[in-house]
Amino acid sequence: MALIDITMSERVYIFDTTLRDGEQAPGCSMDVPEKLKMARKLVDLGVDILEAGFPIASEGDYAAVDAISREFPLAQVAGLARACRKDVEHAAKALQFAKRPRIHTFIATSDIHLQHKLHKTRQQVLDEAAAAVELARSYVDDVEFSAEDGARTDPDYLEQISNAVVSAGARTVNIPDTVGYSIPSEFGALIGRIVKSLGDRAIVSIHCHDDLGLAVANSVAAVQAGARQVECTINGIGERAGNCSLEEIVMILKTRADIFPFFTGINAEHLYSASQLLASLITFGPQPNKAIVGINAFAHEAGIHQDGYLKEKSTYEIIDPRSVGVPEGKLVLGKHSGRHALSQRAADLGFELTREELDDLYQRFISVADHRKKGLMDMEIIQLIHAGQDARQAVAD
Ligand code: KIV
Ligand code: ZN
Repeated sequence: MALIDITMSERVYIFDTTLRDGEQAPGCSMDVPEKLKMARKLVDLGVDILEAGFPIASEGDYAAVDAISREFPLAQVAGLARACRKDVEHAAKALQFAKRPRIHTFIATSDIHLQHKLHKTRQQVLDEAAAAVELARSYVDDVEFSAEDGARTDPDYLEQISNAVVSAGARTVNIPDTVGYSIPSEFGALIGRIVKSLGDRAIVSIHCHDDLGLAVANSVAAVQAGARQVECTINGIGERAGNCSLEEIVMILKTRADIFPFFTGINAEHLYSASQLLASLITFGPQPNKAIVGINAFAHEAGIHQDGYLKEKSTYEIIDPRSVGVPEGKLVLGKHSGRHALSQRAADLGFELTREELDDLYQRFISVADHRKKGLMDMEIIQLIHAGQDARQAVAD
């Protein structure tokens, strides 16, 4: 297969919003220690921008943005703010210890939102957007503007407001498909128009929701049309049907490098453990048939498939499971499993345990496995590791 020369490829920035858009969905809330655990993994994964929360929304969100900014000085940390003074100032304060802070300010731009939600004219919204960006720039160099419901916004107005916020100092202009309404050809054309209009004055970003199951497809179309930042989440969590799935967009660009001249900075071998870690922190995991990280994603059941796969893997496998961190020959860990298998699985999930930590994990593991007919899932093993860490921390405190 002829690969595109990597030196000709362009970088696509991965903006992770698992801890903000993802976290605001039902069943996905995380407290500050949980967000810190997830943030560590996102940093290892190599996300370019980590949106840590919406500081004005709650004390917990403020504390998370503040804690992540202090704990990960090298990460580019973003805080969300509506396009108004109170929000922007609060976001700037939450980000004060970040070495590479980004204020991400937004306002809705579609007529539906202007008429029914904001009760404002287009001119008012444009002025408020530009003022918020200018204010944000007085605190930080890196400002992103989002035109909420951008996909349903009049394209002429979208172009006008995009230019206005760039003149006010925004370096990234994000066009969300907030309600997951667009389709790839339409969204690609819209993004192409904004890219052309802004030229090299700003990076065009996209943020797609999955209401029609098209978040990833729309994101791919937008990248092909010139977007160079993708907003996405682990396991695709997010408002309603969720956001563009990080693992899917990354692996599409990587697997189809023959047609996509793009690359990301993601260390793909952390994808599975990131997915499992998130599942251990919230109330649900990826569906079994979820691409890349679902438990069936690399399982071959039909005889004809198994036969072909055993003869030559590439007959039915387009991605090497190990390349996304799925442990090889994944054994089910149950009450008969030994310490060695448990230690190996913990390592596969990103935890190098000391002897003492392994002993503790093993005790916890056996006490659960003893009552189980089936083995433990990976996310449950991560939960046991965290329980041990928390117990040791409590003793230390
Ligand atoms: O979906 C959306 O429009 C958003 C913005 C705040 C970026 O989440
Ligand atoms: Zn969103």
